[in-house]
Amino acid sequence: MQLDDLISINNVESQAWEALEKSIIYYQGRPIGTVAAYDKSIEALNYDQVFIRDFVSSALLFLIKGKPDIVRNFLEETLKLQPKDRQLDAYKPGRGLIPASFKVVCHGEQEYLEADFGEHAIARVTPVDSCLWWILLLRAYVVSTKDFALVHRPEFQEGIRLIMELCLANRFDMYPTLLVPDGACMIDRRMGIYGHPLELQVLFYAALRASRELLICKGNQDVVAAIDNRLPLLCAHIRQHYWIDINRLNAIYRFKGEEYGTKAVNLFNIYADSLPYYELDKWLPKKGGYLAGNVGPSQMDTRFFSLGNLMAIISDLATEEQSQAIMNLIEERWDYLVADMPMKICFPALENEEYKIVTGCDPKNIPWSYHNGGSWPVLMWMLSAAAVKTNKTYLAERAIEIAEARLLDDEWPEYYDGKKGRLMGKQARKNQTWTITGFLLAKELMRNPTYLPLISFDELPAELVSRACEFEIGSVDTYSSR
Ligand code: GLC
Repeated sequence: MQLDDLISINNVESQAWEALEKSIIYYQGRPIGTVAAYDKSIEALNYDQVFIRDFVSSALLFLIKGKPDIVRNFLEETLKLQPKDRQLDAYKPGRGLIPASFKVVCHGEQEYLEADFGEHAIARVTPVDSCLWWILLLRAYVVSTKDFALVHRPEFQEGIRLIMELCLANRFDMYPTLLVPDGACMIDRRMGIYGHPLELQVLFYAALRASRELLICKGNQDVVAAIDNRLPLLCAHIRQHYWIDINRLNAIYRFKGEEYGTKAVNLFNIYADSLPYYELDKWLPKKGGYLAGNVGPSQMDTRFFSLGNLMAIISDLATEEQSQAIMNLIEERWDYLVADMPMKICFPALENEEYKIVTGCDPKNIPWSYHNGGSWPVLMWMLSAAAVKTNKTYLAERAIEIAEARLLDDEWPEYYDGKKGRLMGKQARKNQTWTITGFLLAKELMRNPTYLPLISFDELPAELVSRACEFEIGSVDTYSSR
């Protein structure tokens, strides 16, 4: 770290930098990633591994601080873990997948990496988000270092292509969104987010955009064409069908059901009675709105999911107007979404019978705990990035101040519980790396907003946007149908 940096940072920050340094994992003598949590007081389970999604905020910080080697090593080694051949054994990871996590294993003098694609994970959850975050990280590395040679390498071009083929393959459904099982992302437990959950749609969109920039070799033209087909459809679909504000709620409240054929207005046959519309009528600010958690056949999950909404702003998936409305909602409903620890992973929590049925009585996800309405400091960096993008940096500053008063004393917990986030998470690990990096990255983004392009996107190119107007549910074109 530079001398200037040391002068301007406070004790909490300097301790955070030290903790980050301690979290680095080495492989064959080279730094390769950061451990999920360094907490000796509790059984490690898989928290002693490098998680792809957890490493994102660490990696962005390393890039910002001029230490790209660890990020390059991470990208190179995780790419080697990606299966390259068609898999005949259904219990083995499919071609193109990137693991959820990996660890360094020693056999005598020999070191090697052991990956977990979900086959060891609790409930055997599939890490759909890993391959999407991997592409976003590769782009951030290239934006930061201008090391185009890395991404030009055949194995990198192949790696991106395999991920795209996996995501763009023809499936049973005819939506431009990605159909996934429950718990396939940051919320990696059963939480009623199977189907087309927002978080994965947003990451998919961002990864499509990043891949379009990174696929530079001639042999990949067919994939690029498939991306160009999918991007505007996906964009229009989310902007249109996931959006909730008071006008939209009014429309849904008065929706007719059972419409057959191409003229249907209520495309997904959403029954207003499935929505907590009186609650939303009270909760939605006049000028606020957000993207729903999930949309599918007769299903609209109206829970607010922070990661999806914030990344939708950062990746430019939300329109400028929608982005402002989302930030406005966060500001107006601060006590519900940020309160005493930034910020809630989702709101509101599932309670009573709904909790039992949807989570399968998961004791870790009781109402207002962990994934079910808990508060996760890692989300602070996304809140800050979204605040920079929408010119509302005062919101991020307020959030950072709240977190800064507690995180070090509480020893960087993984998450907080309670309606206001005042309770340290019941089963939270301490020294959780992405808590540390979420805080540090938020600070860096405030200090220097020019770091935002590492992870953000501008508007879709005009020629692609115009295609969005042709959007019709039935006209979805996908890669392998070409
Ligand atoms: C938990 C979280 C997951 C995270 C992992 C490691 O499983 O739900 O999002 O990646 O811990 O921190």
